[in-house]
Amino acid sequence: MKLNIAILGGDGIGPEVIAQAVKCLQAVEDNFGHDFTFTEGLIGAAAIDAKGNPIPKETLELCKTSDAILFGAIGTPEYDNDPEAKMRPEDGLLFLRKELDLFANIRPIKIFPALVTNSPIKKEVIAGTDLVIYRELTSGIYFGEKSLSADGKVATDLCKYTEAEISRVAHMAFKAAKKRNGKLTLVDKAHVLETSRLWRKVVTNIAESYPEVELTCMYIDNASMQMSLNPSAFDVILADNMFGDILSAQCNVLIGSSGLLPSASIGTENAMFEPIHGSYPEAKGKDTANPVASILSAALLLNHFGLTEEFNAVVAAVYKSFRKKIVTMDVMGSTKYGTESVGDFIAENIVDVDDNLNINDENIGLGKSTII
Ligand code: IPM
Ligand code: MG
Repeated sequence: MKLNIAILGGDGIGPEVIAQAVKCLQAVEDNFGHDFTFTEGLIGAAAIDAKGNPIPKETLELCKTSDAILFGAIGTPEYDNDPEAKMRPEDGLLFLRKELDLFANIRPIKIFPALVTNSPIKKEVIAGTDLVIYRELTSGIYFGEKSLSADGKVATDLCKYTEAEISRVAHMAFKAAKKRNGKLTLVDKAHVLETSRLWRKVVTNIAESYPEVELTCMYIDNASMQMSLNPSAFDVILADNMFGDILSAQCNVLIGSSGLLPSASIGTENAMFEPIHGSYPEAKGKDTANPVASILSAALLLNHFGLTEEFNAVVAAVYKSFRKKIVTMDVMGSTKYGTESVGDFIAENIVDVDDNLNINDENIGLGKSTII
């Protein structure tokens, strides 16, 4: 398959972790006979510095004309600590999501068998956790009108949703639940927010077209508690932009490291793949950041184009790195492996999945849906 992939490393550790994901995609290209072209673009603080714009028009054009986008991370402390900043690196990412209409952000969270003891949550509580969050990504409070009074003492952010915006992501979530374990949890705050009441109404109506799926509605505060108390009870979670952001960050805790979880942002025409973690500026250039979330995001890219074997091969190589303890320090405090060497190991082990299975010393659950 021929694919043009836009590479947006972004800020902080973004470029170094994305470089490992590219390495893995090149290994897939070589081993499975594909033809991928990678073109880099500027975004975030790096783009503000170079072009005075967090998402320069060349980057936007590159993204629009590519088959897929692989995105690293965004944000730097200089802007975080400056409430007066006229432009923010994050604006680049938000603009890109909106402009490309990447309305569904899919965040699969599955406990990796080899890392089960890494979680701060008890093993018996997290064992078997395998869920996926469908987060609405292009509307809600992130994109509503904002205001700041002239005296700088009053600020507002409007949270607005339309039935159509809710409906399109809800259908995707129901379809996923139908293919998985038939359970969908809508997370909202319907006892307080009008937008949440609209979500409930629309989603409850849609549920009638999916009789195989059992719909539960849960308030965000309760969902957040259940995520720590009984995460394996979730199957598919559907949430608005803000609740989905917070709940998926909480999932990093379940996994025991924020460097492991990937995501896919899907629109009508475009698709972008990005790790859930932030730009971790303290680790920039130190060769300590975990490349796995980016590598698994590249795996989701492959899956998106129907390259299932290739997807499984990347996931199998990642699992192998866990079993062999070839991991970065966020996963195992004392390790001699860094970003590059973990990336190298995973890339070198991307082989035909059947060969890899022969040397598996544990059931890594391939064959059924691996991480989605
Ligand atoms: C995420 C991030 C972004 C978000 C930030 C960087 C704007 O936290 O993708 O989860 O809030 O959507
Ligand atoms: Mg987030």
